[in-house]
Order: sequence, then structure tokens, then C-alpha cells
Amino acid sequence: MVALKQGYDLVAEVLHLKRQRNAIILAHNYQIPEIQDLADYVGDSLGLSYKAKETGADVIVFCGVHFMAETAKIINPSKKVILPDLEAGCSLSESCPAESLEKFLRQHVDKNYYVIAYINCSAGVKALSDIICTSGNALKVVENAPVDRNILFVPDQNLGSWVMEKTGRKMDLWRGACYVHVEFTKNSIGAIRARYPQAPVVAHPECTFAVRMLADEVCSTEKMVNFCRDSEADAFIIVTESGMLHRLKRELPGKTFIAGPTETCACADCRFMKKNTLEKLRDALGNLAPEISLPEGIRQRAELPIIRMLELSR
Ligand code: 13P
Ligand code: SF4
Repeated sequence: MVALKQGYDLVAEVLHLKRQRNAIILAHNYQIPEIQDLADYVGDSLGLSYKAKETGADVIVFCGVHFMAETAKIINPSKKVILPDLEAGCSLSESCPAESLEKFLRQHVDKNYYVIAYINCSAGVKALSDIICTSGNALKVVENAPVDRNILFVPDQNLGSWVMEKTGRKMDLWRGACYVHVEFTKNSIGAIRARYPQAPVVAHPECTFAVRMLADEVCSTEKMVNFCRDSEADAFIIVTESGMLHRLKRELPGKTFIAGPTETCACADCRFMKKNTLEKLRDALGNLAPEISLPEGIRQRAELPIIRMLELSR
């Protein structure tokens, strides 16, 4: 009872501070249930980018990871963008430091690369790219890439391979990976599928080829909601970060989402996404910190490839 009251007070406090600050709370599908339930918008990287672009709020509180909040700042230089925990990073973003990409491009200047960067990267990497993509629009972005240019796709080799399989377009891939999605194996997902043979397997494209081969649908987190809603099946094996299960259960209460017992779990926690808590959200709104800030030169160079993406996938 006491815990319930404390939880309620915390939610009320967050909502009060949000109104006081004229803030909008944007949350990724992988956030903890308590944050998803009070956010103004919950979605995938693409949907969140559009929301960040369109909002009239003075403050954007980004409940997600650093590159997402940074993207919101790049396209909203005059707004305050805050991230409840600055240590909410991303292994994909870490796998491609801007200095390494810059060096690589200098060493391969003869290739005249058209650089497509998955949004899970730093502002420095975005600033070196021609266009950004998310898992929700990567196919479209690659299909629209100039036919007379070599493509370098950074930083996710798994998403990049999936796009090559789907579009037939050859690309050079940066060797980055998401530490959460590469943990799922053919054996672990195969074992769950054997127990629930009627349930379609829905996997994120950051999964490895062996896992994607077992999937009935490979898509972004937002498209997972649409796929499960439109499918005639009433149970699904969801292969991605665990926060997705809450979003799916909330949107589709009549359907079953199989996480499986621990040894064959089809969902796993991202330690970065789980850094954000209700307490940190309350403090971030109260203190208007930690705030995202960027050198203006990098911000300007990073903005153009994001705008190109937003215009293309409208
Ligand atoms: P989505 O854009 O599909 O939500 O993916 C973001 C992400 O970080 C996946 O690990
Ligand atoms: Fe990055 Fe993977 Fe976490 Fe997504 S799930 S934020 S790609 S580490």
C-alpha cells in the first residue's frame, strides 16, 4: 500500500512538473512500463524523430538513449532537450566513433562513398553522413540511394545485411552490432518456436542472419505493433528488447506475447534503455538537467542528413 502510494505520488509529481515546464515526454518502446504509461508519445526511433520535430513544447524530455535525445536536439536547436540519465548510451553507437569513420573515409576516398548511417550513432557520425535511416525506413532510404555511388552503411552490420538481402543493393558494412540483439541464437529461438509452433516469430533487424531466417516478420519496433494487430494469429514470439512486451500488451490486450522461460527467453533487457527511472525523470524535469548540448558546427552538419531522411520517409 505504501509502495503504491509512493508510486502514485511520483507519477503525479512528474506530470505536475511536466505541465509547469511546458515539456513533452517522448519514450522509446524499450522504456520501463511506468515511463511508457505516462509518456506523451511512445514509439520507435522514426516516430520519435517526427514527434521531436513537430512539438511546440519548450522542453523535450527524452526517455530513451543518448543518440535519440541528441537527434532531437539536432533538429530542435532552440529547445531544451533533457535525458534522465546521460549514461544511457548504445553499443551500436559506441562501435563507430566519428574519428574512426572519418579516418576510414579518408583512406577510401577513391570509393566516393555515399554514407548511410543508421540513426543509432553519434552526432559526429551523422555529420559525416549523407543520409540517416532507422529500422523503420532503411529499405526505402537504400532504395533511393544514388545508383552510381558506392554505399557505406554504418554502424550496424546486421541491419545492413538485412537491407542488402531485401533490396539486392550491394553495400560495404561497418562491423558494428547491438549487444542485446546478437545474444539471441538460432537454438534459443528455435527452442521457443518448437514449443509454440503456431506463434509467428517477430524479430528486429538488428538480430543475426541465423535468427532472422527463423522469423516470420523482421521489422522495426513500431511495425511490430502493426504486424501483430493485423495478423490473424493470437500469440507471437517477440525477439527484441523486453520493454516491447509492455507496449504490445497495452495496445493489443487480447493477444499473447511469448517471452518464454529464462533459459529460452525471446526478449532481453538493454542495460542502457533501462538506465531511465521514474525518479530520474522527476529529477530531470525538476532540474532541467542533464541537458544535451552540441557544438553548433557539428549540429548543423548532422541536421541535413536527418532532414533528408524525414523528407524521404514522409
Ligand atoms: P527501433 O527504431 O526499431 O525502435 O529500434 C531502435 C533500437 O535501438 C533497437 O535496438
Ligand atoms: Fe543500442 Fe541495442 Fe540498446 Fe537499441 S537495444 S539502444 S541498439 S544497445
